[in-house]
Amino acid sequence: MTLSTQALRTQIAGVPRIPLAHLPTPLELLPRFSQAVSVNGPRIWIKRDDCTGLLFGGNKARHNEFLIADALAKGADLVVWGAGVQSNNCRQTAAACAKVGLDIHLVLGRGKPATAPDAVQGNLLLDHIVGASIEIVEESIGPMLDQKIAEVAERFRARGRKVYLWDRPVVLPLAAVSYALCMAEIVEQSSANGFEPAAVYVSSSGSTGAGVALGAKALGVPYPVKSIAPMIWPWDSRQELSATANQAAELIGVETRLTPDDILFIGDYLGPGYGQPSDAGIEAMTLLARTEGLLVEHVYTAKALSGLIDHIRAGQFRADQDVVFVHTGGTPAIFAEAEMLAARIPRRVF
Ligand SMILES: Cc1ncc(COP(=O)(O)O)c(C=O)c1O
Repeated sequence: MTLSTQALRTQIAGVPRIPLAHLPTPLELLPRFSQAVSVNGPRIWIKRDDCTGLLFGGNKARHNEFLIADALAKGADLVVWGAGVQSNNCRQTAAACAKVGLDIHLVLGRGKPATAPDAVQGNLLLDHIVGASIEIVEESIGPMLDQKIAEVAERFRARGRKVYLWDRPVVLPLAAVSYALCMAEIVEQSSANGFEPAAVYVSSSGSTGAGVALGAKALGVPYPVKSIAPMIWPWDSRQELSATANQAAELIGVETRLTPDDILFIGDYLGPGYGQPSDAGIEAMTLLARTEGLLVEHVYTAKALSGLIDHIRAGQFRADQDVVFVHTGGTPAIFAEAEMLAARIPRRVF
């Protein structure tokens, strides 16, 4: 059974939520970018989740509407969260905590021993400004860092704090719920603009992609939703995304279930690795900026956009079709890599 967008919204309304994001985010046509990518290609639309409004925007404003509501419902007085030093997730979660008056302690994984003081730039600078307490550790993002975060949480519990923890089994399905809602917005906004997309592209190897895939299946959309990986986990992402989507489906009480085959997970645009810019990503970043005055960053969105560009240039879409790219934010991260990016961005001289 497929649901209308209104029925999906009604189901989601049963999950505790606080307002944090500017919603619905705009869906905008990119006419000059579309032409620059391919004169015979589809019209490219961008879903502006970089405009969610919470401390420079991004996908975690949507996630946090449900996660911080859960933290408050569970009586937490401290959020213990963690990811990489330049984590967009931590920046937006710290901002959400500031907005509701919750303390937050961030465990940020540098991925290596310190050789110099960590540069307080980009997301890390914003974490400090919004008042997060910050601990930088040697672990890399993944199971080792998750373990470290859990240990730190124990330390706080022993001191009597009521901790809400970055704990994947709790966090991922709740965050995914918020992206089922984003898919509902895409369906409504594309219809209002007189088209049905030929495909939706998003940067994700976690709850964002799981949520969009759940929304697409619950709403019965006939077109593919493609998650382009910013990183490859040690575990099977198609398996994890479908499991996360199914847990989210249970949370909102819909019958929809996904199998790993429902997850179109593409790992081809990672370039040299997580966090390291790819040549195609730099091209995507400069092309979008120079045709539309819009920014994608090197870690997530530029790589996903490079995947869409590649698919268009390979002739996967016709000129009379429309595709939607979900911009998940992350733009403050460029300032932490100013020198490296400045060296890679081609200069124009007139
Ligand atoms: C800008 C940006 N896009 C996409 C993602 C992927 O989100 P998810 O972990 O939900 O797949 C992230 C995750 O941190 C992000 O910061």
